[in-house]
Amino acid sequence: MPKWTRRSFLKTGIAASASATSLLPARGGVLRGQNVSTPSTGQSASAHSPRERALLDFGWRFHLGHADDPAQDFDFGREREFQKTGDFFKPSHPDFDDSDWRAIDLPHDWAVELPFHEDPWLTPHGSKPLGRTYPATSIGWYRRVFEIPAGDSGKRLSIEFDGVFRDSMVALNGNFLGRNMSGYAPFRYDITDHANYGGKNVLVVRVDATEFEGWWYEGAGIYRHVWLVKTNPLHIPQWGTFVTSEVEDGTATVTISTEVSNDQDHDAECRVVSTVLDEGGKVVSTTPSATVSIPGWRRPEIRQKVRVTNPQLWSVENPRLYTLVTTIEADGMTIDRYETPFGIRTLRFDPDKGFFLNGKPVKVKGTCNHQDHAGVGIALPDRLQYYRIAKLKEMGSNGLRTSHNAPTPELLDACDRLGMLVLDETRMFLSAPESLSQLSRMVRRDRNHPSVMMWSTGNEEPEEGSERGALICTTMKRLIKRLDPTRPITQAMSGSWGKGISAVVDVQGFNYHANQHYNYMIDDFHREFPSKPCIGTEDGSTLSTRGIYSNDKVKGYVWSYDLSLHDGWPTPAEGWWPTFDDRAFLCGAFVWTGFDYRGEPTPYGWPCISSQFGIMDTCGIPKDNFYYFQSWWSGKPVLHLFPHWNWKEGQEIDVWCYSNLEKIDLFLNGKSLGAQNMQRDSHVSWKVNYTLGVLEARGYQDGRLVLKAKRETAGAPAKIVLQPDRQRIAADGEDVSVIAVSVVDAKGRVVPVADHEIEFQVSGNGKVIGVGNGNPSSHEPDKASQRRAFNGWCVAIVQSIKQAGEIHVQATSPGLEPATVTIQCEQVALRPAVA
Ligand code: GAL
Repeated sequence: MPKWTRRSFLKTGIAASASATSLLPARGGVLRGQNVSTPSTGQSASAHSPRERALLDFGWRFHLGHADDPAQDFDFGREREFQKTGDFFKPSHPDFDDSDWRAIDLPHDWAVELPFHEDPWLTPHGSKPLGRTYPATSIGWYRRVFEIPAGDSGKRLSIEFDGVFRDSMVALNGNFLGRNMSGYAPFRYDITDHANYGGKNVLVVRVDATEFEGWWYEGAGIYRHVWLVKTNPLHIPQWGTFVTSEVEDGTATVTISTEVSNDQDHDAECRVVSTVLDEGGKVVSTTPSATVSIPGWRRPEIRQKVRVTNPQLWSVENPRLYTLVTTIEADGMTIDRYETPFGIRTLRFDPDKGFFLNGKPVKVKGTCNHQDHAGVGIALPDRLQYYRIAKLKEMGSNGLRTSHNAPTPELLDACDRLGMLVLDETRMFLSAPESLSQLSRMVRRDRNHPSVMMWSTGNEEPEEGSERGALICTTMKRLIKRLDPTRPITQAMSGSWGKGISAVVDVQGFNYHANQHYNYMIDDFHREFPSKPCIGTEDGSTLSTRGIYSNDKVKGYVWSYDLSLHDGWPTPAEGWWPTFDDRAFLCGAFVWTGFDYRGEPTPYGWPCISSQFGIMDTCGIPKDNFYYFQSWWSGKPVLHLFPHWNWKEGQEIDVWCYSNLEKIDLFLNGKSLGAQNMQRDSHVSWKVNYTLGVLEARGYQDGRLVLKAKRETAGAPAKIVLQPDRQRIAADGEDVSVIAVSVVDAKGRVVPVADHEIEFQVSGNGKVIGVGNGNPSSHEPDKASQRRAFNGWCVAIVQSIKQAGEIHVQATSPGLEPATVTIQCEQVALRPAVA
């Protein structure tokens, strides 16, 4: 049996062509499983290097505080917090009794645990009681006690937070470390002077989610990873490497910039050795620098150039990665070792011919997405990032816009590994220090990801057409170019094209206005500004509810026929994609959205609590539109027939087919209803009087039958079927299996209207961490062991514990035959974690 690592688990079922062993580098310790899930951080331990980077996710305690009442907020605000050092936060005291605080592991989102609540102010944010009027549920306290060995004295220690929503204050051992307002930008505190060496350390985080940043569900809590990092005083700082490449005549010139921090009072001599490894772990080149003297408390940059002949280029079809291993050598010893995964590839944006990757034209077929998912809110286990990106790839998508904020690093790792281009967007469009700091953290962190194709400075900003907007954007652009001169910048503009920041951005972004009702503003722009490359930064906002075929205002459902609201801003898929497909000069576009997300319920408000813009629902279950895009994006033969075939006898039904085949014939109980020719970027449809039986579509190409698709009348609901996306997962307390649950008839056909409540009993080495069903009006809890099916389907997400064994999942519902499934949890090398 091959040795399973976290990496092979993350990729299982996604890169079928890549064998488990081919993913493993030959050199042990270089790309070991535990490091691979966090490559974007570029840090790893080695026997020769004192650098340690340990996950600080496990073993926290959590308690809600209170935004208005200090008595219910651990006396915050009336204690002596800011008076004297060492007294910050009552729960910082080592003898503070946290026994009534809940034991939790990160990532954690307390908002998803709250009940839904009707309040028009909350509607855009997912109808959870957060904000100024909900003080009792808007503050969260986190506490973690851990040991730091005496031997760590003399090292540099820091704590890195990948993302906290939202305004957080952090204290270690009663010492205030800092405050971070952004809910999306990563931050870090040096704790060298505040740590207790050889004793207990108390880390306390107060998270204040009383203010929102966006107009969608943003969650609440420490929802990304936390790390404890230890290094030599002479070390590579966080995000201190930058790798760029140019490719000419089959040879890549790789430029490596390495910052070296000398965090001590004396000068130090060292040399930097840069080793490039291929995907198999084979050394491609090793480049030592000359010996340099680094003055104390300085951080110079060392530049090296490396040639790679016949480079394995990163592309969306074949996302090949390299790893830069940087070591710092002093006094004959390796005193730091830092890994940077990167890719070799070229980008070009042409005003007439669109986007080129490695010299070949690539039309961006992208989706915009927020970061939440069914069952877990914004606290996604890493594996769910891969699950989501793989679903988008299955649809034929090759691009993702991180609307409207910096993503979690693991999303970019998934995009690097699975081959998805990323438009990386910052949250705050301002040139004030806070905004520039957030932008700089995003660019420094993300610039080595080959998937990142472009930076976005903002979305639909009121100042987009003004002189002030242009000034702000110019300052942001200057900063970006200093940190990364290799990628263009854009902004997702909703109007004023040709004015304000249009003159500043490298690539013009268009939000909407690509359909016939807007006189092709894009063509006008292209005529007037022929030297500016153009991309559709946002389009669509197409509305549909999975499995629904008639509009229902009361329940808040929208039919799945791609016809809704032709004249408004939500545009059907067929209303905008042809514009981008037809025009070679357009680099492509990003549709709003790949997945439904919480908040922004449209077109109906309460009782809806989530959006309906997704091509998939909140669980990742495809709606019919998925197959429209798959037909015109994926390049593989597609034939999708809808709706289901359970109606009233004699009822006239609109039957649609999505396909990229030339001719489609439709048969009802074996009788042809007439063949139709498919137009590019379109669909075919028939009006059919319902009669029980079998509806079948046959798709032909060049006169040859290529595909058949069938819809059969389902009988009475009889049993439950469980389909895990993976049956072998890592026993690391993080990995998950997503179990799709369906209600079927006696012959195994999904009952398209079934809404049975399914109960999950889990035993063995795992637990259910969340459930969902994609129903935009469901007020059932996500954190539960039961869920109703919605139009035949629901989902349970099951997570391993850190012990190998089996997870047994049984699903039951009165009147249905139960189902069971066993998930194997395989032992893996655990990534280092703080005890
Ligand atoms: C856009 C906006 C998105 C989302 C969308 C809904 O204008 O950029 O964040 O609100 O509308 O259609």
